[in-house]
Amino acid sequence: MSSHPNQRCMVTGVGGYLPKTIIHNDQLSSEFHLNTDDAWIRTRTGITQRHRASENETTSDMGIAAARSALHDAHMDGADLDLIIVATSTPDQAFPSTATIVLDGLGSKHAVAFDMNAACSGFLFALIMAESYLMQSNKNHALVIGSESMTRLLNWQDRSTAILFGDGAGAVILSRTASSDRGIIGHCLFSDGKNGKALHDLYVTTPSADHPMGVIVMDGQAVFREAVSQLISSTHTLLAEKSIDLADVDWIIPHQANKRILDRMCTDMNIDHRKMLYTGDMHANTSAASIPLTWWKARQNNTIKPGQLILLQAFGAGFTWGSCLVRS
Ligand code: UT7
Repeated sequence: MSSHPNQRCMVTGVGGYLPKTIIHNDQLSSEFHLNTDDAWIRTRTGITQRHRASENETTSDMGIAAARSALHDAHMDGADLDLIIVATSTPDQAFPSTATIVLDGLGSKHAVAFDMNAACSGFLFALIMAESYLMQSNKNHALVIGSESMTRLLNWQDRSTAILFGDGAGAVILSRTASSDRGIIGHCLFSDGKNGKALHDLYVTTPSADHPMGVIVMDGQAVFREAVSQLISSTHTLLAEKSIDLADVDWIIPHQANKRILDRMCTDMNIDHRKMLYTGDMHANTSAASIPLTWWKARQNNTIKPGQLILLQAFGAGFTWGSCLVRS
């Protein structure tokens, strides 16, 4: 970025939040009367359970909880923030933005706040927008949240989608740093609206009285193929642009949709499976929240050491997709 050529933006705190209620695979058939079973879901998706927000729990409530956990990790409080972006496809309402509700909840009097929707790629897109803002201004600290109430978008009669999604929030603190070798070192983001609804169905229907937010419709196989192909291609593009070898990447934090997508990428790109971080078994696809939730778990387990190279990979409806390299 032009304004601060010797600086980068570093992730200084990571946090997350998952609602208390857990729905195990077996409950989908026993309580939700879906014609499915635990073995099918585990084998085809890797998922064993998902969390569901309580009736009164909102996307902003979950976002605030994740933000507090990230602020604690960074030894900061809400008043230190200059920017808050909430990546979400399931905002509390059209406006005010979920981000301004989070801002109020955190007492972040000086921050600029807004929402961003890039579906499941939302967190990655928001992270790069936050980096751009910090690098082009004299501001220092951004809070980037992915928070989603995906279960509110589910048709509980559709076994091909109802098994896949869950609720939750993840957050990171991004801070401008004088270090030129740690932090975000490159990214590539893409969007293509041509096939979003026509060829590869993954969209939310128009709201109706039964479903005030609409419901998810998806051609799972088409989305699966497109996700594998675009995640691989954006990774190669970014690594080539930065002259970095895939073997030098220590950890990959991909969007947590279907474990088989990640297994396919490992096979096709000859990646050691142990580098591919996966927590989707425990919380299913939480859309924009999934990358920071996995990052949060890695932080709790002290998996990622200072100086290691992380590759973030996202893919979502639109379609939107991209990759980002971060030196821890
Ligand atoms: O952020 C991006 C979000 N979207 C995704 O990541 C979706 C990517 N796609 C997928 O994850 C997978 O395509 C699914 C998990 C959605 C489906 O898995 P699949 O291996 O592609 O299964 P399929 O659609 O080919 O269906 C195979 C069979 C069908 O039965 P028949 O026609 O062979 O008799 C389905 O009706 O499995 C049936 N089926 C199920 N059976 C039990 C579909 N869903 C279920 C289910 N339980 N939940």
